[in-house]
Amino acid sequence: MMNYSSGPPEEPAVHAQDLTVVRGPRTVLRGLGFTVPRGRITGLLGPSGCGKSTLMRAVAGTQAKVTGTLDVLGSPAGHPALRTRIGYVTQAPSVYDDLTVRQNLHYFAAILDPGRAAADRRHENVTRAITDVDLTTHADALAGNLSGGQRSRVSLAVALLGTPELLVLDEPTVGLDPVLRRDLWNLFHTLASERGTTLLISSHVMDEAERCHRLLLMRAGEILAGGTSRPEAGGDTPDALRARTGSETVEGAFLHLVDEAIAADRTKETTR
Ligand SMILES: Nc1ncnc2c1ncn2[C@@H]1O[C@H](COP(=O)(O)OP(=O)(O)OP(=O)(O)O)[C@@H](O)[C@H]1O
Ligand SMILES: [Mg+2]
Repeated sequence: MMNYSSGPPEEPAVHAQDLTVVRGPRTVLRGLGFTVPRGRITGLLGPSGCGKSTLMRAVAGTQAKVTGTLDVLGSPAGHPALRTRIGYVTQAPSVYDDLTVRQNLHYFAAILDPGRAAADRRHENVTRAITDVDLTTHADALAGNLSGGQRSRVSLAVALLGTPELLVLDEPTVGLDPVLRRDLWNLFHTLASERGTTLLISSHVMDEAERCHRLLLMRAGEILAGGTSRPEAGGDTPDALRARTGSETVEGAFLHLVDEAIAADRTKETTR
């Protein structure tokens, strides 16, 4: 595979400082500080409702009421120049049921890269993306007739069409069987190591954390570990997290940090 990454490797793909997001009446993200290194897989983990999708929407530039600093690939999040450089797969995959896998991809490829002159290139990109997600044998099946896991792989293929430098994947392995999950994680690692793609992947399955190079752990709109706003939180690789908390698993480390945070909240309340 070719290396499509650009920009100095020492510059992070994403840099957030004091990132705050308000949705409706609530402050959903509270002054987050973190970085996402280039060419690596960063896992975003935390319980349901902690703000993972909101953070990803902010990075992809689709979230309103974002304040603070959020730089993505050297531009402010949401900058039009980033549109073709980011692949974003939302939690609810959107593909057209009445089109085949290949037709879906050609449709999105035409939006991404319009014009007659681009037709050959589109054909190549579509074939490559279908191969990447291992759907070659289902390329001519209607999306409406695919299984849940196959449909979510079509969405992933759409995100891979433009050979993005940054892939933002919101719970891409939810509901997949263990074999498919393994295959997808292998694909993520291939993208990072051979194409230099930066991946930001959310999950609430803690065993997937072990497959990430770096972790951001979230709880209730804040970063528990891996962020830069609380450098004392330290550990941002799975190994460092386990070591720092004396836990055998990332799940154990997470629970340890949650307990610590709850105890700290209580102390704050009683000293108020
Ligand atoms: N439109 C909205 N108005 C008000 N609050 C919202 C809105 N959308 C989301 N929220 C709240 O923002 C918080 C974070 O939501 P978000 O979808 O980012 O969580 P998540 O970590 O992705 O959860 P899950 O693991 O269930 O997908 C939740 O408490 C949710 O109720
Ligand atoms: Mg979510």
